[in-house]
Amino acid sequence: MPITNEIDTTDLYITRKRKLWKFAHFDSYPNCFSHAREDDGQETYKNISAYLPQEKNQKRSVVLEIAAGNAQFSFQLAKKYPEINFIAVDIKSDRLYTSAKQALEEGIENIAFVRMSINELAAVFPENSADTIWLTFPDPFMRKRSIRRRLSHPIFLKQYRSILESGGKLNFKTDNRDLFLWSLEQFVVQKWQFEELTFDLHESELSDDYKIKTYYETKFMNEGFAINLVTLQGKVTSEPAV
Ligand SMILES: C[S@@+](CC[C@H](N)C(=O)[O-])C[C@H]1O[C@@H](n2cnc3c(N)ncnc32)[C@H](O)[C@@H]1O
Repeated sequence: MPITNEIDTTDLYITRKRKLWKFAHFDSYPNCFSHAREDDGQETYKNISAYLPQEKNQKRSVVLEIAAGNAQFSFQLAKKYPEINFIAVDIKSDRLYTSAKQALEEGIENIAFVRMSINELAAVFPENSADTIWLTFPDPFMRKRSIRRRLSHPIFLKQYRSILESGGKLNFKTDNRDLFLWSLEQFVVQKWQFEELTFDLHESELSDDYKIKTYYETKFMNEGFAINLVTLQGKVTSEPAV
């Protein structure tokens, strides 16, 4: 049989239709929100806050997961900690959709899903609005010309520092050792305070919460990669290097 490069367009058509279907549902779900650059970030934040449970006399802790993908990590944490609010952010709503649907079906109300670019993070989330930021398996962008797109680049670290409460934590995990080492250098230069560090999370004594696997974590572990993790504090007394 001759080998051809022909693609079965029926498959592409079905995938496209399935994506459109997920986009439409995402937009209609009460726990899902979208922010585009031209939108008012404050309005988006107000809508997210109005959805999430609030206490009368006390501020709830907020955990933000960025580049969350299918957001199963935040979803599992939200189920475990109903007293904390979780917000999962990704540019792709068809990925967030799966956990958003599951949350509605299971009546998990302390998690919201936001479609937006991380570039716009500080336009939506006010200063001191999160207690923890999780950065889980961001794309490594290993080409030199793409360095500024890495989500651990100082451009993004500045936004995370502003959004974090005083004493709040940035937690970062990745399988990619080169990205991890490069990121550690950025944290040092930007004067983040190191709390915990491991080059093999699942063999470490660190919290079981950290070991809840994301979609990509499972994939990379099945391929034999060890998982790197660092936790840091952003609001320390001295100013970051310029
Ligand atoms: C490798 S996946 C990791 C997903 C998830 N954290 C996991 O571990 O399963 C990277 C994710 O980052 C998202 N992403 C990349 N750049 C982004 C950006 N600038 N703003 C928002 N999301 C972004 C992608 O859509 C993708 O879902």
